[in-house]
Amino acid sequence: LSVPYPHNEPVLSYAPGSPERSKIKDALAELKSKQVEVPLIIGGKEVRTGDLAKIACPHDHSVTLGQYHKAGPKETQMAIDAAMAAKPAWEALRWEERAAIFLKAAELLAGPYRFLINAATMLNISKTPYQAEIDSACELIDFLRFNVYFAQQVYADQPLHSPPPIWNYVQHRPLEGFVFAIAPFNFTAIAGNLPTSPAIMGNTVVWKPASSAVYAPYYFMKLLQEAGLPDGVINFIPGSGANVGDTCLNSPDFAGIHFTGSTGVFQGMWKQIGSNIADNLYKSYPRIVGETGGKDFIFAHSSADVAPLATAIVRGAFEYQGQKCSAASRAYIPESLWEPVMAELTAQCSRIKMGDVTDFSTFFNAVIDRNAFKSITAYIDYAKESADAEIVIGGNYDDSKGFFIEPTVIVTTDPHFKTMEEEIFGPVITLYCYADADLDAALELCDTTSPYSLTGAVFAQDRVAVSKVMKKLENASGNFYINDKPTGAVVGQQPFGGARASGTNDKAGSKQNLMRWVSVRAIKENF
Ligand code: SER
Repeated sequence: LSVPYPHNEPVLSYAPGSPERSKIKDALAELKSKQVEVPLIIGGKEVRTGDLAKIACPHDHSVTLGQYHKAGPKETQMAIDAAMAAKPAWEALRWEERAAIFLKAAELLAGPYRFLINAATMLNISKTPYQAEIDSACELIDFLRFNVYFAQQVYADQPLHSPPPIWNYVQHRPLEGFVFAIAPFNFTAIAGNLPTSPAIMGNTVVWKPASSAVYAPYYFMKLLQEAGLPDGVINFIPGSGANVGDTCLNSPDFAGIHFTGSTGVFQGMWKQIGSNIADNLYKSYPRIVGETGGKDFIFAHSSADVAPLATAIVRGAFEYQGQKCSAASRAYIPESLWEPVMAELTAQCSRIKMGDVTDFSTFFNAVIDRNAFKSITAYIDYAKESADAEIVIGGNYDDSKGFFIEPTVIVTTDPHFKTMEEEIFGPVITLYCYADADLDAALELCDTTSPYSLTGAVFAQDRVAVSKVMKKLENASGNFYINDKPTGAVVGQQPFGGARASGTNDKAGSKQNLMRWVSVRAIKENF
């Protein structure tokens, strides 16, 4: 194979006195000093609708970063038309020519764009420099480089057997239509991967970033243009789900969705697509690829080491304010470890510093917006008022300066308590203490309590126990961690995604994901 196996992009430290510390400070100051007006980018051209929304800063209401134009049905149709117009020339390129553009994009992101895009991520979605670095720099660079490598594997994959005088081969065709990429707010890397992975495989794309996270994706779109992406291959159109989503899904040219977001939205789209299929609207059955909700667990066995377990709970539940789809949000702790775990957890949580992302010493910042603030705090209030639960750490919140909610630990005696079952998507974890002798029953609870199956972790030193938990929970998560937190999958190391209500498990950053963006034609030639 001609593309060498990529290395993961090294994570910069941002330590005091480091060159990256001064570069990110400059980028933050520059972005805060100006007001951007983000246009749609359709067919390579900037389009302004005048229907404007604010680019906010969740940890500081006094800061506005600018505004963005929102697409309506008309602009969405323009984006579809631009994608369809760009398609013949894009799919006619050799895959290496397409790959070169994405490899160049990775170099631009590793170089001149890194601090700009990290700063935009920090300010617009409230990430610490470290959380921004592992997302909008390293993970997105890795997606680009590894997807090119995996694409090469896809194209190289051929039938094994051609008994003479027969020659058998396959062609990996792009889908017949456009792909609709719908991004979440919480990872710039995911937002960037959703349109680029289908595009690497020769598809053209209509890309809707999340309404609360338009800023960094906009700069990534500019970067793609600078890398040489032809006009119309990816069309950037922020806007409402109703306007953009309906127009895309109801288009006869629709060929697939690449989605990360909520289970409810995904299910609604699936239904809409199903009803359009019944009406014979599309040319082919659309590819439906989605990563949705989670209710991710940490399961501790009595042989677990207490300190790393507590660290995994803190980092798994509270990094990026618990707004990772992989975030730990329920934990099962054996009675024999309960007291030391609680002591260690309390000690570690007392050291968490909450505040502004531009204060480089914070671990923890604000949640994304008012809707999230309201929904997360409603769960906290519910726990406060319930006889079956107690808030043992945190539980306070204040939206006067930004959308701040303390890291919150709920303890419940009811394994089916609402916060053990429902996705909260915020800095809240619920702990349940099980009797050591009831290990099997506790595993059964862990497996069946939520409809999701995204990530999970076991903590145990006893290998027989690890094996038992792995077997019992084999369908309870798409990513399973042994003695580590359930967050922070690395492209090329842990392909990411889950099943059940968590999605179609088409692993982001994998050959398997890229296979969803091609339609295979098998050819038999008889000489
Ligand atoms: N891939 C991220 C993680 O593993 C979540 O989307 O944390």
